[in-house]
Amino acid sequence: MASTLIKNIKSLCGIQDKSHSFLKGEALSVLNQIDEAYILIENGRLEDFGSMAECPERADEIIDATGSIVLPSWCDSHTHIVFASSREKEFVQRIKGVSYEEIAASGGGILNSAKKLANTSEDELFESASKRLEEVMAFGTGAIEIKSGYGLSFESEIKMLRVIQRLKNVYDLPIKANFLGAHAIPTIYKDNREVYIDIIINKMLPYIADHQLADYIDVFCDTGFYTVEETDQILKAGAKFGLKAKIHANELGNSGGVQVGIKNNAVSVDHLEQIGDNEIEALKKSNTIPTLLPSCSFFLNIPYAPARKMIDNGLGICLASDYNPGSTPSGKIPFLLSLACIKMKLTPEEAINAITMNGAYAMEIEDDYGSITRGKYANLIITKNVSSLAYLPYAFGSDHISRTLVKGKTVFQAAN
Ligand code: NIG
Ligand code: FE
Repeated sequence: MASTLIKNIKSLCGIQDKSHSFLKGEALSVLNQIDEAYILIENGRLEDFGSMAECPERADEIIDATGSIVLPSWCDSHTHIVFASSREKEFVQRIKGVSYEEIAASGGGILNSAKKLANTSEDELFESASKRLEEVMAFGTGAIEIKSGYGLSFESEIKMLRVIQRLKNVYDLPIKANFLGAHAIPTIYKDNREVYIDIIINKMLPYIADHQLADYIDVFCDTGFYTVEETDQILKAGAKFGLKAKIHANELGNSGGVQVGIKNNAVSVDHLEQIGDNEIEALKKSNTIPTLLPSCSFFLNIPYAPARKMIDNGLGICLASDYNPGSTPSGKIPFLLSLACIKMKLTPEEAINAITMNGAYAMEIEDDYGSITRGKYANLIITKNVSSLAYLPYAFGSDHISRTLVKGKTVFQAAN
């Protein structure tokens, strides 16, 4: 039996008992902790933890965490890390005043990424996505959802999902695959979009289900992309193949995406930069998780979702990166935490709960990940020497992570 003891932890944060639930309203501000603590890991799982006074003496491996905070690793429930190339030309266009919507309407944006992906091999996509995955593990991510959606044809969507499947086979962290064939309307179907939707429903979905290539289905339900009616049709088709929904909604306009997601029992509705009281009320009556993506607001210079108002209304929120080449070329969760605190007015405790415990819920892996709980996997972050928890989002430019562990194994260790 392989055991690891992490001792002399300055502060062990994110402790939950077994009966934990999705954290909402005031509960989101409680991040239970033990100061001067230890953790004992056995066979990749959290066997025990407690105060140093009760620390066991022996283990196969001992990590001295003097001066460090230990946290559950981030559960990033919304990313697009399989893509062929970056889009910094569009970034410069936007600096000069062209909007994200204008770039998309002129064949750039998602369509630009799809063109490049069609000409990139599965092996090349696997290599570059692996690098991104290793990069985000160094930023503390220990569980991730990855979407397709830069394929927009049968062959290319399947190619993307196969890359995600390979990542699942190679890496130990939990990975969820989300089929986002309905990300944009391909140029060739511009004037007969129903033909493309028919391909999604009658060609892509049966193949994906047959080959178990996806865990969820997604639609970009927004102004200039998919309508509420189309979203409803696609989500219902996905449900017939056993795929639950996690969708893009209300990024560019108050699209009705939140309501159609809730109506289709979506696990989560993501973005929500453009929501009002009706959407907040609808979410309160549902089990759908509102997932907010502050790094996207930062990069596109668009409004931030009203996180403070949502939490003060008793809602639970989840935070995620949205790492993708167009709207969020970064999967750096520590920076996202600073944005959530500074721009959305979350406390550090709320922001950390939203990207750990609630992130695990948004991928339906909360029984095994997302908190310091006996029996869960030891997916952990060990920080460098820091003065307090609030120092992490406060000192936004520095790298605070010393180690990331996945199932008790070190997957990243900082040079100093
Ligand atoms: O979540 N909003 C839709 N999809 C991505 C961005 C896609 C792109 O621009 O490449 C997002 O922001
Ligand atoms: Fe996204």
